Amino acid sequence: MKYTLWAFVGVTIFTLLVDFLLHRLILKHRDNHPSRFSFPFGAFWHYSIASLFIIAFGSLYALIPIAQSSFTYVVFQWIMTLYLLVYSSKVFFFLGYKITGRAQKVKSKFTDKGQIKKMNDGRYPRITRKKFLSQVGIITASLPFVSLLFGVMKGRFAFSKRYSKLSFPNLPDSFDGLKIVQISDLHLGSLNSNYQEMEEAVALINAEHPDIVCFTGDLVNNFYEETIGWEKVFSKLNAPLGKYSILGNHDYGDYSKWPSEKAKTDNLKGIKEAHERLGFKLLNNDSATLEINGEQIAMSGVENWGHPPFPRYGNLDQAYVGTENMPFKILMSHDPDHWDAEVIHNSDYDLTLAGHTHGMQFGFDFKGFQWSPAKYKFKRWSGLYQEGNQFLYVNRGLGYLGMPARVGMPPEITILELTKGPISNDPM
Ligand SMILES: [Fe+2]
Repeated sequence: MKYTLWAFVGVTIFTLLVDFLLHRLILKHRDNHPSRFSFPFGAFWHYSIASLFIIAFGSLYALIPIAQSSFTYVVFQWIMTLYLLVYSSKVFFFLGYKITGRAQKVKSKFTDKGQIKKMNDGRYPRITRKKFLSQVGIITASLPFVSLLFGVMKGRFAFSKRYSKLSFPNLPDSFDGLKIVQISDLHLGSLNSNYQEMEEAVALINAEHPDIVCFTGDLVNNFYEETIGWEKVFSKLNAPLGKYSILGNHDYGDYSKWPSEKAKTDNLKGIKEAHERLGFKLLNNDSATLEINGEQIAMSGVENWGHPPFPRYGNLDQAYVGTENMPFKILMSHDPDHWDAEVIHNSDYDLTLAGHTHGMQFGFDFKGFQWSPAKYKFKRWSGLYQEGNQFLYVNRGLGYLGMPARVGMPPEITILELTKGPISNDPM
């Protein structure tokens, strides 16, 4: 609750600050005639959009903790999208206007009368400095607007396959060439009823002919009801050695107040049963044995283990029981922070699969260079990491949360091929 309150306060301050700066800019650069943004009525209209958003976020801040269905989350995500469309455009307009204005002054490309020097043969009309800067502002404002709109219309379902080949000396011969597909963070309530799009993701996974499918948590946003209807999609996933899953921080119903402890327990029970209905074997601080030709490896899964505010239900020791003598071990743990906190120092898991970060659904990934604000929050936020002989793979998620969009961070299907040989990794 403390974190969401701070988020609300932060958004309110940010919103008012952006509108204040823009208002000042408009009043400063207005023509001689009274601006339609002058006090008092102009100011009222200028701040009306900000006021509506603040009221909407304030209402959601009060409603989300007592919500009993994912509908409130769906409303939230569309208001958030509208907000980002409007306010990212406002910020970029302001930056475009101000930065270009400064650059103009530095280069002294303008006449004393505040007009652009004649840089053409006279066929085009001269424009004032203010008008020129406004046009630059509109162009820069369109960048986040168009990107986000594209992220909503296309980006959130532009499934991306990422391949890696990992080599381990201790991998039993029978598992040489084992193909694992990892998916994560479905957040079914956010997907709403976009079954057709997720059918496409399932077809892309099946086309890889994986031996195992691993789902690393956050099946829902908060409620069991979100899972209803999805069995017809995910039960189509094919993996001869099994489909395994774990719980993520969103799967415990911790993000709302329940009328009784029983209601919360029933919700969690429904979510656990949904994993089975969707065709996954849920590993709750537990392990399964994978066997080919009499040779065995371990597949373990822990409950969510994160740093505050994320819950810490995971018990690695409990999950480890029975795997002690296995020559090769795979672990699923939703939160990648768990790897540094417990896994690499206290266990001999060869490969850990995590999700959780979503790559913040925003960033760049171009020719091996990737950036996202997620990197400032999570030490391991996307892709493959190695410490000694141990690997961690962080999947950026197949669904979305908060805003129904992905900009430069497409929904991910991870394909990992394990081979026997000297320790190495090869992003393909
Ligand atoms: Fe998630």
